Amino acid sequence: MTALARLAPTGAKVSDSRDIRPRPDQGPRGHLPVLAPELVDLIGPQPGETVIDCTFGAGGHARLVAERIGPEGTLIAIDRDPIAQARFQEFATEAGCRTRFVASEFSLALKSLQNEGIRASALYMDLGMSSLQVDAAERGFSYSHDAPLDMRMDPRQSLTAEEILNTWSEQQLSHMLRELGEERYAGGISRQIVARRPLHTTAELVEAIKAGMPAAARFGSGHPARRSFQALRIAVNGELEAVDAALPIAWDTLDIGGRMAVISFHSLEDRRIKRFFNDLATGCICPPELPVCVCGHEPEAEVLTRRPISADEDEVAANPRARSARLRGALKLRESEPAGANPGRRGEVR
Ligand SMILES: C[S@@+](CC[C@H](N)C(=O)[O-])C[C@H]1O[C@@H](n2cnc3c(N)ncnc32)[C@H](O)[C@@H]1O
Repeated sequence: MTALARLAPTGAKVSDSRDIRPRPDQGPRGHLPVLAPELVDLIGPQPGETVIDCTFGAGGHARLVAERIGPEGTLIAIDRDPIAQARFQEFATEAGCRTRFVASEFSLALKSLQNEGIRASALYMDLGMSSLQVDAAERGFSYSHDAPLDMRMDPRQSLTAEEILNTWSEQQLSHMLRELGEERYAGGISRQIVARRPLHTTAELVEAIKAGMPAAARFGSGHPARRSFQALRIAVNGELEAVDAALPIAWDTLDIGGRMAVISFHSLEDRRIKRFFNDLATGCICPPELPVCVCGHEPEAEVLTRRPISADEDEVAANPRARSARLRGALKLRESEPAGANPGRRGEVR
C-alpha cells in the first residue's frame, strides 16, 4: 500500500493517481495545478458526490474532480476573480458533471451555500494566486512586468497595492513585509518606499526594493522583489483573514464522512490549517490538572496528513511554484458541538 493510499479517507476508492498528473500541454491552456493527484487522492471524490472547489482559478483541480464525480455529481466552484469565472464558463461546457459557479470571496460564498442548505462530501482550497493572475501583466501581480500597482484578486475591491504603498506608515509597511513576506530587509525597503512616494508602477516598486537591500542580497537566490510582492499581495487581498473566516464555515458545510483538503504556499497559512485540523481532532479538552476526563468531548476530525504532503522533485522541476506547496487534509467524523457546549473549543492551543 502506498503512503497516499494509507492517507486516503476511510471508504474512499483508493488509487495512487500520480499517473494522472497533468503535463503542461494537458493543463487548461498550459496551467499546471499543484499537487493535483495528491489532492484528488486525499479527498477521494466518488461518483454522484457534491464537491466544492473554493479556489477555482483555471480549473486544473476541478477537471480531475469532475471526472471522478461523473454525471450524477455536482461541482460547485468559487472564486472572487472574474478571470476565473470566465474560465469556468469554458469548463462548464466540457465538464462531465453538474456545475455551478459562485463569484465571491470564499467565506461569503460558503456561508450563502450553507444558507441554501447545501452540504458537500468533499471540499478543497488551493490558496494564493493563479497563473492566470500572474500572467495578466496589467494587474500588477508580477515583478517581471511593469504595470500599475494593483494586485486585487477582485477588481470590485477598493484597496489596491498603490494605496497601501502610498498611505501606510513606514512602520506599518515594515511590519507587513516582515510578517507576510519574511523579508529580512523590511526596514530598509520600507524606508525607500516612503522616500520615493508617490509610487505608481511595479517597476518603481522593484527599484525601491532593490535600493532598500544590501547590494549582495540583490543577487541571492530568487528575484529580490519576490518576498515583498508576496507580502503586498497577501495584504491587499486580506488573504490570512479570509482563510481564518472560511475554515470553520467550510468544515460546517461538510457532511459526516466528508473530506477537506487545503494547499497552502506560506508558513503563516500552513500553520493556520494545521492548527485548525489538529484542534478538530482533539478529544478531551479538560484542564491537564484534572485526574479524569469530565468534558466527554469527542474529536470531530481525523487528520489525514500527519505531515503535510509536498511536491516531489519532478513536479518542482516541471512547475517551480510547487516548491513551497503544502497539502493537508482531514476527515469529518461528527458534527460540531453547539456553540457554548465546550467553552474554548476551537482555536484553543493545548
Ligand atoms: C492557486 S489559484 C487556484 C488554482 C486552481 N486550483 C487550478 O487548478 O487552476 C487560487 C485562486 O483562488 C482565488 N482566491 C484566493 N483567495 C480567495 C478568496 N478568499 N475567495 C475566493 N477566491 C479566492 C484566486 O482568485 C485564484 O483564482
